[in-house]
Amino acid sequence: MAPRESPRAGGARPGLSPGEKSAETGSPEPGAGIRVELKGVTRSFHEGALVRSVLRDLDLEIEPGQSCVLLGRSGSGKTTLLNLIAGLDAPDAGRVRIDGRDVAALSERERTLLRRRRIGFVFQSYNLIPTLTVAENVRLPRDLDARGGAAGVPDAPERFWLERVGLADRADSFPDRLSGGEQQRVAIARALASGPGLVLADEPTGNLDLETGRGVLDELQGLVRDRGITLLMATHSREMLGRADRVLELRGGRLGEIRA
Ligand SMILES: Nc1ncnc2c1ncn2[C@@H]1O[C@H](COP(=O)(O)OP(=O)(O)OP(=O)(O)O)[C@@H](O)[C@H]1O
Ligand SMILES: [Mg+2]
Repeated sequence: MAPRESPRAGGARPGLSPGEKSAETGSPEPGAGIRVELKGVTRSFHEGALVRSVLRDLDLEIEPGQSCVLLGRSGSGKTTLLNLIAGLDAPDAGRVRIDGRDVAALSERERTLLRRRRIGFVFQSYNLIPTLTVAENVRLPRDLDARGGAAGVPDAPERFWLERVGLADRADSFPDRLSGGEQQRVAIARALASGPGLVLADEPTGNLDLETGRGVLDELQGLVRDRGITLLMATHSREMLGRADRVLELRGGRLGEIRA
């Protein structure tokens, strides 16, 4: 049986303080957040003769470094919206711009590189590769990158980020040896390891108990804030609402702002 760690006592986070830069690894400096713009974004899904209209004419602008929470009932389109922003899916109408670049106008290759180098995606179900160790999972986006890593990304990002999420000692474990909270922290480390300017997180605490979820949110929030990374997080966690800059809600295919 794998040893289980409880979330760190006292909620202490081993992250860098704001503005601090790791001399050892040269981690990306704060202020690297990127702008997200959606204009008239519409997305429907066809199932046989049925058309399900999920997103209707959405407009959204997220400033670099802003931290946003995305609320909405199950089936309201949160995952659909995050996938569109990540370029994993394309809108039927409207535009998605990442840092001023129209995602639809990019080639498949350019979109892949944009995702790999500029966007970190934390999936609800972790999506760790079971046959790779924790460290290999974290460095996977970089290993996939033919260029050998984005600018400013340290040579051994997995060590740096696993320390940040308190899992340095589990680098050689396989994911199935880890608790849900630990796997989620690995997924966060992986999302941050390529030095993204935007982190999209799809209910990152959906599978975790309250206490563990709180620790994971603390980590994610602290890590993105310290680096000025833009964050859009689908969550039901009330914990996060008070700490985000903005709270958005999807309802009936439209996007509303609960608090700006
Ligand atoms: N590929 C698809 N084909 C058909 N319908 C789809 C597809 N993807 C999503 N949908 C539908 O779009 C709607 C929105 O789905 P989505 O996964 O975005 O919701 P969600 O807000 O993320 O829900 P949850 O909180 O349960 O994760 C749902 O009704 C879903 O069935
Ligand atoms: Mg979803």
